This record gives sequence, structure tokens and C-alpha cells, in this order.
Amino acid sequence: MRLSGKLAWVTGAGSGIGEAAAIALAQEGATVVLTGRTRAKLDAVAASIGEAAHVQAAHVQAGDMTVAVEVEAIAAAILARFGCIDILVNNAGLNIPDRQWGTLTPSGVDAVIAGNLNSAFYAVTAVLPAMRAQGGGVLIHTASMAGRFISALGGPAYTAAKHGVVAMSHSLNMSECIHNIRSSVVLPGEVATPILDKRPVPVSAEDRARMVQSAEVGDLIRYIACLPAHVVINEVMIAPTWNRSYVAALQRD
Ligand SMILES: NC(=O)c1ccc[n+]([C@@H]2O[C@H](COP(=O)([O-])OP(=O)(O)OC[C@H]3O[C@@H](n4cnc5c(N)ncnc54)[C@H](OP(=O)(O)O)[C@@H]3O)[C@@H](O)[C@H]2O)c1
Repeated sequence: MRLSGKLAWVTGAGSGIGEAAAIALAQEGATVVLTGRTRAKLDAVAASIGEAAHVQAAHVQAGDMTVAVEVEAIAAAILARFGCIDILVNNAGLNIPDRQWGTLTPSGVDAVIAGNLNSAFYAVTAVLPAMRAQGGGVLIHTASMAGRFISALGGPAYTAAKHGVVAMSHSLNMSECIHNIRSSVVLPGEVATPILDKRPVPVSAEDRARMVQSAEVGDLIRYIACLPAHVVINEVMIAPTWNRSYVAALQRD
């Protein structure tokens, strides 16, 4: 229970990596606030966390992370109720089926950039004043391997947005280290979550089973959140051993 007394705000908490992170942080004693656009998914995650007798109840604050005023209102509501935000898991994100240059449209660009990059910035600007005032905090952003390496898989808008998230996280450490605020960016490879349902090429159950599982990324996020205050993991990758892009390259050789 290394996070007892801590408040963690998890965005994109209704499924996949965010759900797993919320569960892992709650198991470690944190009070978690769950945000996403679909209240029913958040309620289900909160209920499953609440079933474990030894953990704090999870709280739901539904909202759209691409709308800055909603993001600010959620942060304000958390601060009004709990008085602090110790940990931000800045995880909400999405991709679209029509993601390649042949099919990408301006509205697709807007959805992907707003949903992965603007949203991540809005969460940070919403929590930073409180973290500065309270004397520290932990920021954990879910970017992607597409935020470090350029490949066709995620599409150009997603790749550009996730590169932006990686840059954002490093810039936070450069600015906020003197305020005892640490920023970690997590770069997953393929993780078996509902985001895969938006792939232009369907992903088989066999392939999903070989991928990283959400709970494994949740464990990594828990590990980062539990580090002592003088330590930051600036950037970390987590990927399947059976990396489909490596396997494809080997099959071409
Ligand atoms: N799975 C992978 O292979 C993989 C790899 C690298 C990086 N990632 C990143 O990991 C993060 C989590 O994705 P996931 O794989 O766990 O997929 P997921 O299950 O689809 O989770 C994404 C969550 O974000 C929420 N969300 C999306 N847009 C939102 C918005 N505007 N406001 C609030 N919530 C929003 C979604 O819920 P609602 O639709 O209800 O809002 C959903 O619950 C994303 O940033 C994704 O880009 C995933």
C-alpha cells in the first residue's frame, strides 16, 4: 500500500491500459479518479475496484479530454473534493481506421491530434498549478513506440501526435524538476486492448494473445508511481517479445 493517501487521476480509464493502471494504483492504496467519455465503462471499472475490500473507492468524473474547459472543470472538481492531485496518468488516446495518407481527411487529423496531443497538454496544464503549490507530483503519459520511431502502422497523424507527447514529457522535466515534479513517458508497442479494433487490418485473437497485456502496462505505471520522489524514469518502452514488425522483417530476409 505504498500509495496510501495519494490521489491519482487516470484518463482513458474505462478500458485497456487506463483501466489496468487505475486498478494497479488502487491496489497500491491510491484513491483513483477515472475519466473518459463513456460513463458506463467508468462505472464498471469503479465497481470492480470497489469490490476489493481493502482499496479506496474509485470515483468517476466523465468528460472529453479534447475539450479544455471540461478538463479544467474535472481537475477543479478533484481539487475541491480531495485537495490534491498527486499522480496524473495521462493516458486517454485513440486512433482511426482511415489513418494512412491515402485515406486521411482533415477531420481525421483533428480527431487524432486533439485526442492524443491536445488532450495530453490540457491535462498537464490543468494539474501543474496544483502540483507546484503542493510541492510535487508525478506525471505519467502513455505515448507509444510510434512516439519514438516512425513506421507506417499507426499512421502519420498518430505518429506525429505521439512524438509530441514524448517531447512534452521531456520538456516537463526540464522545467518542473525544481518543483519536485517528475514526468515519465511510457512507450508501449502492441498491447491487447480495444484500440486494436480500429486497425484497418483486423488483429487475430492469436496475435492479441502474444501481445503485451493491459495489466502488464498497469504494473509498469504502478512501479513508476511508487518510485521515491528523487527518482524519475524519463522514458520507458514496453513491447511484446513476439514483435510483429521484427517477425515480418525476419520473414522478408
Ligand atoms: N494498445 C496499444 O497497442 C497501444 C500502443 C501504444 C500506445 N497506446 C496508447 O495507450 C493509450 C490507452 O489506449 P488503449 O490501448 O488502452 O486503448 P483503449 O482501450 O481504446 O483506451 C483508450 C481510452 O481512452 C478513452 N478516450 C479516448 N478519447 C478520449 C477523450 N477524448 N476523452 C476522454 N477519454 C478518451 C476511451 O474511452 P471513451 O471512448 O469512452 O472516451 C478509452 O477508454 C492511448 O493513448 C493509446 O494511444 C496503445
